[in-house]
Amino acid sequence: MSLQAKLESLKNETLEKIDNVSDLQALNQIRVETLGKKGPITEVLRGMKDLSIEERPKVGSFANEIRDELTQAIEARKQLLEDEALTVALAKESIDVTLPGQQVQKGNRHVLTQIMEEIEDIFIGMGYQVVEGYEVESDHYNFERMNLPKEHPARDMQDTFYISEDILIRTHTSPVQARTMEKHDFSKGPLRMISPGKVFRRDTDDATHSHQFHQIEGLVVDKHVTMGDLKGTLEVMMQKMFGEDRKIRLRPSYFPFTEPSVEVDVSCFKCDGAGCNVCKYTGWIEILGAGMVHPNVLKMSGIDPEEYSGFAFGIGPDRVAMLRYGVNDIRNFYQNDLRFLSQFKGE
Ligand code: PHE
Repeated sequence: MSLQAKLESLKNETLEKIDNVSDLQALNQIRVETLGKKGPITEVLRGMKDLSIEERPKVGSFANEIRDELTQAIEARKQLLEDEALTVALAKESIDVTLPGQQVQKGNRHVLTQIMEEIEDIFIGMGYQVVEGYEVESDHYNFERMNLPKEHPARDMQDTFYISEDILIRTHTSPVQARTMEKHDFSKGPLRMISPGKVFRRDTDDATHSHQFHQIEGLVVDKHVTMGDLKGTLEVMMQKMFGEDRKIRLRPSYFPFTEPSVEVDVSCFKCDGAGCNVCKYTGWIEILGAGMVHPNVLKMSGIDPEEYSGFAFGIGPDRVAMLRYGVNDIRNFYQNDLRFLSQFKGE
């Protein structure tokens, strides 16, 4: 058989094999066997040295043609087999989007966080800054600077967890006001701030007392700040929190750091003053304490009480949440029972 005829039949044989092969490994095997260094084509080309000068280029280019043709056929087959494999894999891995999904339980912000953020937003909207301080405080900032020297009887109003004689965990967020007042540069404008955060008192825990609860205190200091400014500010806050129709009333009270001091009531948001279980049939709900900053407090923070005056207030987000949602035990907020907490989805 001539070399050409050999090559021709080799080609046809191989093309048939390629056509019949159905996996990529076997196809590769064919490529190595036919076109590789030890394969028959290389063999034929090696045998060319025995041919005449005229015949060599003819057989050579014929062999090259066949090599190209087979290479192409292998490539095409490879492509086809790969496509098929991909189709099979995709079919296996496909997801039936009509099947029911897995329920992912979604969390929500704690109800107290929601209320604190709501109050913060009201005051940010009125140009107040939000300042957070330290939960571990000195007796100096927590009490002395609030006009409560050692042995002052009003210290009894806030039973205190002491860490040492001079260090305690704060009983209110007022120390944040003291720290901010002493730093404030009044040439740049008035001081308007709120301080939200956790506070601690040595109460025996029961339905209405918790050794840990929250406070948001507010403070404004400027020239000519009056009780009217305080009343107007609190009225706006109450209307934003409990509805446009809310009214407030002030009753005289006592706090060592304010003079005069007031207790603030809001008209009942549930019965609108008619009397119900939320307002204990009085039409009014006791909601916060407030007053004009005591001149001693200003003085101790380096502010001249002859020139400046201020108002302050403190509200309890725990109490707000209890009133608004009819929660009758404050301990619910601190027990992390999801059956309770997940009721307050927020926005
Ligand atoms: N610091 C007070 C308290 O915790 C709350 C308060 C602040 C009252 C400002 C009046 C004015 O009792």
